[in-house]
Amino acid sequence: MTRQVHICEVGPRDGLQNAKHMMPTEAKKAWISALAAAGLEEIEVGSFVPPKLIPAMADTGEIVAFAKTLKNVKVVALAPNLKGFQRAIEAGAHKVTFPVSASRLHSESNVRMTPDQMVEEVRKCAQYPHPGVEIEGAVSTAFGCTLQGVVPEDDVVRIAAQLAGFCDAVALADTVGYANPAQVKRLFKKVSAVVGEKLEGAHFHNTRGLGLANALAAYEEGVRHFDSSMGGLGGCPFAPGASGNVITEDLVFMFESMGVSTGVSLEKLFRAREILTTGLPEEPIYGHTPLAGLPKGFRAAA
Ligand code: COA
Ligand code: ZN
Repeated sequence: MTRQVHICEVGPRDGLQNAKHMMPTEAKKAWISALAAAGLEEIEVGSFVPPKLIPAMADTGEIVAFAKTLKNVKVVALAPNLKGFQRAIEAGAHKVTFPVSASRLHSESNVRMTPDQMVEEVRKCAQYPHPGVEIEGAVSTAFGCTLQGVVPEDDVVRIAAQLAGFCDAVALADTVGYANPAQVKRLFKKVSAVVGEKLEGAHFHNTRGLGLANALAAYEEGVRHFDSSMGGLGGCPFAPGASGNVITEDLVFMFESMGVSTGVSLEKLFRAREILTTGLPEEPIYGHTPLAGLPKGFRAAA
């Protein structure tokens, strides 16, 4: 079966970094195994940030090593600087994502660097030997910022173009859920005109309920790589008001019911959701499709 869209499950990173409770390492492993068994081909399993800053990510090295034992999974980790990148390489991550905020205020709050300094940090990482490890530059707060407000599109285009100079792929992220479908189409078109095929991923948060609408708009604009998180977990601890990602279960349902193959089994995804709730019982989780069930006569994309 050929996948027509590619979904990266970011719950173990974007979700757990923002959860009220810590998910024990063994529970993370059980959840990640279930996600892989459901057919998720790419999983962002954690981040290499100072453990004191985000204690929930302290076990990322062990989680990366574990995830690498699962078949057919690209193991992704986030890193904010060279030290994090070195840790990711050592742990054996297949791909490392760097958050580069287009908003100066968010960038300073998140990584204590201006956007330009962060671009230089990622350049330094790209120049550091990293055989076989892919690098993605994600332009965060690309559609607006709770700290700065409006983020000029020219800033997003400029940062994306710089990142494309030395990253394998570039993504646009709506960190705080400000985007709307018209803006999504406009900005992906603008960035794609400058960056070309290196513009790959779309990372949307569902803070104002437009996550799926934005994902569909990006799909119509030619985007084929999406981040999402099971149960709609997620949010950035350094962006006030940021809440969960677009919900994996609903995103898969949308594409599959449209006849667009994701390679993900909804039934197995629902099972993985049970394992998530067992491992993180007090965290509220969302999702329309798992609550309503699949429509009678539903058929997944061929
Ligand atoms: N992993 C582990 N330890 C790290 C580290 C990393 N990636 N980067 C820095 N450190 C350590 C340093 O060695 C130093 O340790 P010491 O006090 O024992 O000497 C300490 O952390 C401070 O280092 P410094 O370089 O001054 O970092 P900082 O305090 O200015 O923080 C970042 C900068 C980028 C490390 C931090 O802001 C960060 O991790 N941000 C990412 C936040 C995040 O995950 N956001 C959500 C996802 S987008
Ligand atoms: Zn996010």
